[in-house]
Amino acid sequence: MNTLQLLLAFAALSVTVWAQGCSRLPRNLNLTANPRLPSPFTFYNGRPVRTAAQWNCRREEISELFQRLESGEIPPKPRSVSGSISKDDNSITVKVTHRRRTISFTASIKYPEEGKGPFPAIIALGGTTVPIPSNVATIIIQHDQIAQQQSATLSRGVGLFYDLYGKNHTASAMAAWVWGTSRLIDALEDTSRRHRINTRRLAVTGCSRNGKGTLMVGAFEPRIVLTIPQESGTGGAGCWRLAKDLQNRGENVQTAPQIVTENVWFTAGFANLTSRVDDLPFDHHLLTGLVAPRGLFVIDHAGINWLGPKSTYGCSVAGRKVYEALGAADHMGVSITGNHNHCQFPEDKTGEYYTAFIDKFLFRNSSADTDIVYSDVDLGFKEEDWIDWKVPKLAK
Ligand SMILES: *[C@@H]1O[C@H](CO)[C@@H](O)[C@H](O)[C@H]1NC(C)=O
Ligand SMILES: *[C@@H]1O[C@H](CO)[C@@H](O)[C@H](O)[C@H]1NC(C)=O
Ligand SMILES: *[C@@H]1O[C@H](CO)[C@@H](O)[C@H](O)[C@H]1NC(C)=O
Ligand SMILES: *[C@@H]1O[C@H](CO)[C@@H](O)[C@H](O)[C@H]1NC(C)=O
Repeated sequence: MNTLQLLLAFAALSVTVWAQGCSRLPRNLNLTANPRLPSPFTFYNGRPVRTAAQWNCRREEISELFQRLESGEIPPKPRSVSGSISKDDNSITVKVTHRRRTISFTASIKYPEEGKGPFPAIIALGGTTVPIPSNVATIIIQHDQIAQQQSATLSRGVGLFYDLYGKNHTASAMAAWVWGTSRLIDALEDTSRRHRINTRRLAVTGCSRNGKGTLMVGAFEPRIVLTIPQESGTGGAGCWRLAKDLQNRGENVQTAPQIVTENVWFTAGFANLTSRVDDLPFDHHLLTGLVAPRGLFVIDHAGINWLGPKSTYGCSVAGRKVYEALGAADHMGVSITGNHNHCQFPEDKTGEYYTAFIDKFLFRNSSADTDIVYSDVDLGFKEEDWIDWKVPKLAK
């Protein structure tokens, strides 16, 4: 066994529970190069995905592949998670106990000025960069407390998550944020009589690095009904392979080999794969696919090359095919426009589309038009260069 196989074997010891009747991934993965975007509709073992039930198995498989190779393991809900609402109603404290260790963290809550609720809410990683509609509550989670993201050398294993699970846990910062957001939702459910949040109408958002985290949260936490990654770029809604291709064409774009030297967003072992992204059995169109059929609105910036807008566009178009297969193409949208600062919310078409997504997924307004694939410049994605698979009909 070489080092990589050892690492993969080790990671396999701690995988998530699979749905019954699904075939299991082997302990040692045989990674073989595929320069195109891997098919969402072919199992690791080569079998096709033809039914909705098979997609559920494939979904589990994709989730496990991401956890083994890229994000690190996202632990399940520990036995004890509780919440308490502050006296002034403005925050919730989440307390989690696992194997006799306890951590707690606090998230702020801001309600609409009018109305009684229960209100839909937007959970924002670190702070808000999207406009908050007047009838929607905001919950801000200080995810950096759960896992720090200051640098690749100093932040590994630092934060409340690691106080609970140990410094050497495979979870990357982003995996730890998914876990933390899930515990926040557990705590909101635990205190449902004491607050005015509708826990069935939760969105998540964040920009840039927190946009990368946002997509991870949406992919791995099924209680989120609307995911809004803003300017998440490479490592978020962009694809590794597409970013590499852009770099090969001379664009100054963030790529996998660079990203692992910048921060601890990915599991430590991922650094051993970044020079061979063609060997990954997934790319981030499949992270997008994990969100399906729940609402997903990808916002990116057309004018910042480092983000790789062409990559985010192509990756979104590819990921949207999972939605199409499930008969829900209009549950996923992408809008990429320029002429604003990084993380400044654009008051252009993106704003209009954002409102439609809020209406549809937080207020169940079925007439809101969310059938959106938009960019204000030509981002030149050629499907035939990247997609060599067909879209099955998986919906019943
Ligand atoms: C890995 O996959 C390649 C290409 O499909 C195949 O030729 C090779 O035999 C496989 N190796 C193992 C150990 O399964
Ligand atoms: C983490 O791993 C290192 C290196 O293998 C080891 O020295 C250390 O004891 C481990 N720490 C914990 C808390 O397990
Ligand atoms: C990555 O590969 C290097 C060199 O083979 C090895 O020393 C290291 O332990 C590997 N990283 C992980 C997290 O396994
Ligand atoms: C639902 O969405 C449609 C289309 O955007 C809009 O015209 C209508 O006012 C919305 N209905 C409600 C109740 O908000």
